[in-house]
This record gives sequence, C-alpha cells and structure tokens, in this order.
Amino acid sequence: MVVLGLSLNHDASICVVVDGKIVSAISRERLCREKKARYIREYTLQYVLEEAGITIDDVDYVALSYWFRNIQDWATEGEKFKLYVSESDAWIFSNDFNNNSRIQWEKEVPEYVEGKGYRILQDLIALTEPATIRPFDSVPIKMDLFGRTIPGWFVSHHHAHAASAYYTTNHQKAAVLTMDATDANPYQCSLACYGYGNKLETLYYPGLQIGHAYSLFTELLGIGLGVFKAGSTMGLAPYGKVNPDIIKDIDKYTKTFWERTEKIDDWRWTYQLFMKTTEKMVWNHNPKYPLDFEDGFSVEYFTSKTSDSQEAMDAAATIQYVFEQSVFRALNKLHEDTRGFNNDTVCLAGGSFLNCTTNGKIHKNTPFKNVSPYPGAGDDGLSIGSALFVTHHILDIPRANKTVSEVVYTGKKYKTPEGGIPLDFEFVAQSINDGKVVAWFQDGSEFGPRALGNRSFLANPKLPNMRDYINFQIKNREWYRPFAPAVCIEDVNKYFDIEGESPYMLKICNVITGKLPAVTHVDGTARVQTVKKEDNPKFYQILREFEKVSGFPVLLNTSLNLSDEPIVETPNDAIRLFNRSKTDILVINDSMWVK
Ligand SMILES: [Fe+2]
Repeated sequence: MVVLGLSLNHDASICVVVDGKIVSAISRERLCREKKARYIREYTLQYVLEEAGITIDDVDYVALSYWFRNIQDWATEGEKFKLYVSESDAWIFSNDFNNNSRIQWEKEVPEYVEGKGYRILQDLIALTEPATIRPFDSVPIKMDLFGRTIPGWFVSHHHAHAASAYYTTNHQKAAVLTMDATDANPYQCSLACYGYGNKLETLYYPGLQIGHAYSLFTELLGIGLGVFKAGSTMGLAPYGKVNPDIIKDIDKYTKTFWERTEKIDDWRWTYQLFMKTTEKMVWNHNPKYPLDFEDGFSVEYFTSKTSDSQEAMDAAATIQYVFEQSVFRALNKLHEDTRGFNNDTVCLAGGSFLNCTTNGKIHKNTPFKNVSPYPGAGDDGLSIGSALFVTHHILDIPRANKTVSEVVYTGKKYKTPEGGIPLDFEFVAQSINDGKVVAWFQDGSEFGPRALGNRSFLANPKLPNMRDYINFQIKNREWYRPFAPAVCIEDVNKYFDIEGESPYMLKICNVITGKLPAVTHVDGTARVQTVKKEDNPKFYQILREFEKVSGFPVLLNTSLNLSDEPIVETPNDAIRLFNRSKTDILVINDSMWVK
C-alpha cells in the first residue's frame, strides 16, 4: 500500500510510505535552498518517487495536512493540485470556530464535479480546523495530482503531529501530546491523544498555548521570528534569571485557556506575561500583528542589538521556565487521564517539542519515564504524520518495527563526486583532534532540523575556543548558542547524566566532566546525541577513531549549513559550502578533500 504524504505550508515536505515503512522523505527547503520554504513542486515529488522506485501511478492514497493562509504562490501550481470532498462531507468546510465561514461558503459555492465531489476552494480549506461542531481527525478527499485523481484523506494538523510522534516509535501504548506556536485558538495549539497498537484516539484539546507565547517572546526579545529563532531563545535562557514574581505566581501562568477565568486571547495573555516579566508597557492595539509599525508604534521592545542584554536574558529565562512548568502541568494531567493505559510513555511532536531543555526534564517532573520526542517535530513532520495516520489508523495496515535510520535518514543517496582522495578515518580523527573542522557528508540526509551524522560539521569538543570559532568564523551565529555532542551509546554515562537513549538530539542532560567545554552550555548541560553502531556505522566509526587519538568517543556535531541556510542536501551543496567557508576537510561518502 503506497501512501504519498504532503504538507504544504511553511516547512513543506513530502514522503512516500509503503506498507507503513517510510521509504523516502524530504523537506522542500533542502532542494530549493530557501529555509522553511512552502509548497511542493514537481521536482520535490519526483525526488521521493524516484528514491522509492515508483511513479505517480503506483500511489494508492494521498495524505494531506497543511494550513492554507496565503494561496498566492500556490495558485501558480493550483491546476495541478485540485482537491475535492464528497457531498456528504462538504458540511465540514462550512463551520469554523466563529461559525461565520458559512457566509463565505454560500458566497462562493464550490463547483461540483461528477464522480469527484465538491471542489474545495482554497480559502475554505483554511477553515477546516477546527470544525468545532465535531472535532475531526481526517476527511476523505480526492486530489488531482499531476494528471491523476487520487483518493485519500485530509488529516488535521495536530493529528498529523500526533501520528508522527506515535507511529515513528515502537511503543504499543502511549499518551501523545502535541503543541506548536499556532495562534490564539485553543483548538489549534495543542492536542492530547492516546495511541494503542494501530490506533490513535483523540482525547481532548488541552488549550495549551504556551508554545505560541514562546514564539511571540522570541520576537519581542528582538531575536527574530519565532518560527525561525525560538531555538535561540532557548540558548539564551540559561544566561538569565527567572523573574521571582513569576515563580511565586507560577500556578496562574501555567493555566491553560480552559482554566483561565478571564477568557482573554493568547496575544493579550502573552503581552501581560511580557509586561510582568520585563516591566515594559505594551501599547500596540493590533494584537494580531504585533510587529506592525502601523500607528507609529512597534512592540519590538528589544532589538537584535539588545537581544542579549541582561534584561533580555532574564526574560528568556522566564519564558523558558513558564514553558517548562506549563508542559509538566499538562503532562501530569495527561498521565492521570491515561493512568493504567499509558505505560508511563509519552510521544511528543509539534514544533514546541524541539525545546530539548524541556524534553530533558520531563522524566524528573512527571510520572512519564519513557519520553519520545519526534525529530521532525515541526511542520515538516506533517507529511510523515499524515501518511502514517492514513496507513495505520485509517487503513489499519499493521505497524512494522521502526528503526532510527528509517525515521531519520530519509533522504536520497548520492554518487560520490570525482576528484577526492580515499577517506582515511585515522587522518580525519587526528585532524579533528588537532583543531580542524570537518564537513561530514554521508548517504541520505536527515529529516528534521537536527543533523545526526550524515550532514554534520564535526569538531573537537575538548577545545575551549571551538564553540566561538564555529559560531563566529564558520556559521555566523549568536555567541550564546551552544553546540551539541554526539557520543557512542556504550559510553554515554561516563560523560553525561542521562537515562536511556537520545538518538535524535532532542533532550538535554547534565555534563559530568569538565573536559568537554565546546559542547557544555553555561548551565552545565548538553543536548546529547547517543549513537549506536547499527543506526549509523560510519558515524560510529569516526567517533571510535576519535577516541583512539583523544581518549573521548565524543564529537561536537552541528548541522552542515552556513548562517540561515538550510542543511546541505547534495554533494554540490557540500562542495560550495566547503569552498566558501573556513572548513578544513570535506568528506563525501568514501572520499575526502583537504584544504
Ligand atoms: Fe504545527
């Protein structure tokens, strides 16, 4: 059974899932080289079809998940992607949260096409979440796609997140929580589910809006747009001090939308928290567009120049604290709600769960002992999630064993370019130990924002100046952003205080040696990646080779890209990066180039 998964808003991605196995997946940004690119183009489709060894004629079902706010670019491709919904399901598209889209529906009655159903107007599909009369997880559709009409399902945004979290693990019973920075509507920000075997059942919409607040704080702190830069806020937080008034009143600030007596919208709630945190006034009255300069006001209270001031650091620390406490509170409730059924296991997705500081603290602050964040937790994972939801929940195809390499290394394998010399592991390890920086390119690229040993910069974690060197001389990033270590799984507890595995670099833990300064953050933590030989033999080998010369099977591992570019995808991208950066050695598959 071949399911083609598509996600078309920011972080657009596409995947092919065959009988529940992720055969190929890619985010469009990797191919078009524009970070977080929207929409799918024909070349993106060809990429996954070719890698899966199939054509569009082999696709049995489509699985689609996206928001539709801006259809301008999409319209240029619109003829290739017409969508239809059956007559009996058409009502879903006529009800939104405020119940006013019926007016639009009546104004622009979609065309009915015999045998296909109602043509879904592109602006109507934006209104499908939430259908508050009956919250739905999916709606049957038909899709005109490159000359074929293919049946399938439209999967709700947060159900796709939930499915990506649950079905990419081997858990058979688990609570599932999703959260992202989607705006003020309490139905659109988070979802609680329960996974058992093949099924993923909806429990409730928790109204957990703190992901949105975190994103908005990132803007107010002058760091950048939340969708791009929330990770920098997380990096800044350990330099600050949490506001004591907020700690004292934390119960008030971790309430969900449903628990608050005053039903103010999320924008206002966040502004109140920001004012309380920074003692700055927010007077912009256009809460939908907080950074608008209309009326002559800006609410950007910090600029990029002051975004690392002590006051900004304290605010970052405070929002990180409120975020963590809100997640723990929601998870404690979810554990209680699924008591006896959850196996003390929780699967997490939605962009908020890229917050690895929080992820790493869950097992100590909730009864959940198995904490599984999904590496494509952002909206790039929606294609995978919707395809797996259709495969398992809807079509009831049994789940097969999932491996780290199937979940992560979903990109296509490229031929090695001519002109290099044979890869010498010993030489590379010795060079890293001597302070050289290596661009390490192997096999298929990683899915999600973390480089996990196939598109990585590798460097010596023992050198105190290595962090500044890569931040300033190579990647051009903020000084306060830390780098992460990769470590052979067998040795992880010699250096890091972590329980179990962390194959996706999505949990922080304490570093228990003072000898790894380049990967130890100011608060003594690290976002560790544990590496097993069977998941990535070559990456494991270079770690062991480095151990021989340095005594530590640990490497600094950061994504292979320069400032604000997507991670490299092709050998040509890697060669370009090598030529225009201060990288010393380039490795592509079994060849290397040395400057
Ligand atoms: Fe999302």
